[in-house]
Parts: sequence; structure tokens; C-alpha cells
Amino acid sequence: MSKVTVVGAGNVGATCANVLAFNKVADQVVMLDVKEGVSEGKALDMIQTAALLGFDASIVGCTNDYAQTANSDVVVITSGIPRKPGMTREELIGVNAGIVKTVVSNILQYSPNAVLVIVSNPMDTMTYLALKSSGLPKNKIIGMGGALDSSRFKCYLSKALQANPNEIEGLVIGGHGDTTMIPLTRFASYKGRAVSDILSADELDKVVKDTMVGGATLTSLLGTSAWYAPGAAAAYLVASIIHDQKKIIPCCVSLEGEYGQNDICIGVPCVIGKNGLEQIIDYKLNADEKALFEKSAAAVRTTNNILVEIKAL
Ligand code: 2OP
Repeated sequence: MSKVTVVGAGNVGATCANVLAFNKVADQVVMLDVKEGVSEGKALDMIQTAALLGFDASIVGCTNDYAQTANSDVVVITSGIPRKPGMTREELIGVNAGIVKTVVSNILQYSPNAVLVIVSNPMDTMTYLALKSSGLPKNKIIGMGGALDSSRFKCYLSKALQANPNEIEGLVIGGHGDTTMIPLTRFASYKGRAVSDILSADELDKVVKDTMVGGATLTSLLGTSAWYAPGAAAAYLVASIIHDQKKIIPCCVSLEGEYGQNDICIGVPCVIGKNGLEQIIDYKLNADEKALFEKSAAAVRTTNNILVEIKAL
């Protein structure tokens, strides 16, 4: 029996729970929210799709009742406020740091062995906060950003190539911010062919720029943060943990010398399995990519430093 809790039954959390049930990732899905009735209502609505969509996972919604989350294998934390148009993810730190810290501590009382997947923004800094405030080993705290950004990268590549996104390989590392993410064009391929052999430098440059502002583009269209791809990306990561798939997924994890960095959580390619983070893969970046990664890490560090200023750490 696998059990997954999703904290925060807003758009991202509810989408994640829905994908987890529909894709048969977990036998039991619990949604917890602070707003009375919201997760209960969304759970009931989802259960009423079971006979239509053909799944039989149990879905439970609860209002702040952490006892219901007990013994979860994986907990996805989406709590906090989302972006409004024109806002950066970093501007959410003041409100979301307090929320994420409290949620992590409540969750660990009931599920001390769970792997935590952090989705709340600014995600790299919230992952660092969860790691530092919980004292959990680094394999148990994984920030979800790279799975989403890589899916957006593949989406824009597929449009430029007029190709099926499932036939494209591509990964985005670095921070999950409009200026910090690094779509690795050199490693992107379409059925084994380097995309740089097919697309012009200008076309590739446009794909990179569109990917980096992928979240902001949606925020301005929707008036709030996106949810279908973020929720599905979190569920994709959970599936690799629950089913021990050992997929290589770019994830925000604690670095101890890898990619030349220490004391930071930032996106790098990781093997994700039943123990959470199982291995960090060294992609041997070239000088330009290394420079971008260092710049990205410096920006993430600047946001992390705010945690000390606001006394969250
Ligand atoms: C996004 O990029 C919500 O950070 C998330 O859409």
C-alpha cells in the first residue's frame, strides 16, 4: 500500500492529487488544506470521476488534520501563496517561508520516514529551508522545478521542431527562476539527433528564452500561477519515488561539492527512486554552462540569505 499526502489543495496540489490517483501512482492520496472544506470538496469531486476514469485509489480530503497524513511514503508540499502577474517567485518568500516551515514540522510528526517533495515558491529557497529546519538527510528533501521546466523546454522544442514532445530529450538545471534556470541545449535531442543540428542558433535562443519565462507567461495569461504542468510534474517525480523507477530527473537537491557548489539546494540531474534522491549525475558542463550555473547559484544564494534576514533560519 502506498500513501501520498499533498499539502495545499489549491490548483497545483489538487492537480497533483488528481494525476496521482488517475495514473495509479498511489493507493491512498490525502489532500490537506487550511481552508475549511476545500480539500474535502475536491477529494469528493475526484472520487466521483473514479467510475468514469477507471481508477480505485482512495482520496481523502481534510482541513489541517495532520493525523490523516500519518505514515505517508511521500509528501508533496504546495502550500503558500502563488504568483500574481508581474511578480517573481522570489517575492513570495516572506509569506511562504513561515508556511513551509510549519507544514514540514507538522508532517514529520506523523510521517518521520517520508520523502518530502517541495513545490512552494521560491522553490529552491523553500527546499533549502525545509532541509535546514528539519535536519532530514539530503536524500529525503527534493525540490520540484526541473521536471516542470524540462517539460516546458520539450514543449517549446517540439513546437520549433514540429515534433512529438515525447520524442524529445531535454533537461533544465539551475534555479527555478525566470533568470536562473538553464535549459541545456547542448544535451537536447530529437530521436538521438542533437537539436542544435536541426534548429538555427536564433531558433534555439528563442526556445531557451520562452522556457525561462514559461511560468511568467502563464501567470500573465491566467492571472495566477500555472497548475496543470506543475501538478503533473510533481506527480511524475512522486511516481519515480513510489515505483522506484530510478528516472533521471533534474531536481533541486542539496549539493556537497557536486557541480562545484556547497550549502545550497539547486537543480541538477538526479536519479530518483524509492529512497528519494539516489544519485546526482555529473553532466560535465562546458565553460559557458559552468558560468551560467555559478551565476544561477549566486542568485539562489541571495534569496536564501533573506531567510536569515526574516529570521526563518
Ligand atoms: C511555475 O513555474 C508555479 O513555479 C511554478 O509555473
